Amino acid sequence: MSKPKVYVTRRLPQKALDMISAECEMEVNPYDRVLTKEELAEAVKGIDGLLCLLTDTIDEDLLDVNPALKVIANYAVGYNNIDIKACTERGIPVSNTPGVLTDTTADFAWTLLMVTARRVVEADRFTRAGKYKGWGPMMFLGGDIYGKTLGVIGMGRIGQSFAKRARGFNMNVIYYDAYRRTSEEEKKWGIKYKEIDTLLEEADFVSLHVPLIPETEHLIGEKELKLMKKTAYLINTARGPIVDEKALMEALKNGEIAGAGLDVYEEEPELASGLTELDNVTLAPHIASASIETRTKMAEMAVENLLAGLKGQDMSNIINK
Ligand code: DGY
Repeated sequence: MSKPKVYVTRRLPQKALDMISAECEMEVNPYDRVLTKEELAEAVKGIDGLLCLLTDTIDEDLLDVNPALKVIANYAVGYNNIDIKACTERGIPVSNTPGVLTDTTADFAWTLLMVTARRVVEADRFTRAGKYKGWGPMMFLGGDIYGKTLGVIGMGRIGQSFAKRARGFNMNVIYYDAYRRTSEEEKKWGIKYKEIDTLLEEADFVSLHVPLIPETEHLIGEKELKLMKKTAYLINTARGPIVDEKALMEALKNGEIAGAGLDVYEEEPELASGLTELDNVTLAPHIASASIETRTKMAEMAVENLLAGLKGQDMSNIINK
């Protein structure tokens, strides 16, 4: 019996690739970059399984290139890059990689929060440039973190893990989610529910942990930023389009909020013009899950899903049951 054909859209940790090649005929994107739309369309021709990334757009046009495609495994927990409805209509099961990146992403949201509030990146640039000429009482004053109010928007796996870490800083944790948690959970996790506008008005730090779906696109825009305190910070490790980047630029420029820590952008990898000129924003290139351990686990999970799907077995992390 011939082996199933698989395409992997970016080089992944070797162990994961070995797991695929043990059972399949495998081809991997040979370039160290995202494939163009045309290259991806060429790559999916004649394959049975696709292991793709959040940087690959899987839409109807692409699916029509290969009506025989059997399974798609996305190497990410977010799957806004895939037209799930179109996959379901074609009977293609799609999986993601939930759980394994929760704590690593929560750690990084805290990293961004802390370096932004305490101006670490700005201070590093200053020090490297040889500008440090001695201690100064007004040098790089930032915002305190301990004892402040933390506003968490989205209380799913990552939101919970992020909120849990606030205990060590003795913070007042408030949250908003389309689904309110039970009072037992709220008590256990030490979180209080607020309507989104109230959360924005009360929080000293607002951190976003919602998926990108039509309801969350531009969830934070001009109106929401104006509700925030002038001393507050916005942290986004979720998806760029959840924030209206133009409105955020204005808020940062005009001092409507104190700062922002961003790992994701509206038009990745493009940044809004002028963003890099602002000192009160910390910019990271979508690396919240980028620890060696987590990226390895994500790859193995994606491969296990892919192989199960190819064998017609249940994929542990199927999205479109
Ligand atoms: C995801 O998994 O959705 C992250 O954005 C990348 O790890």
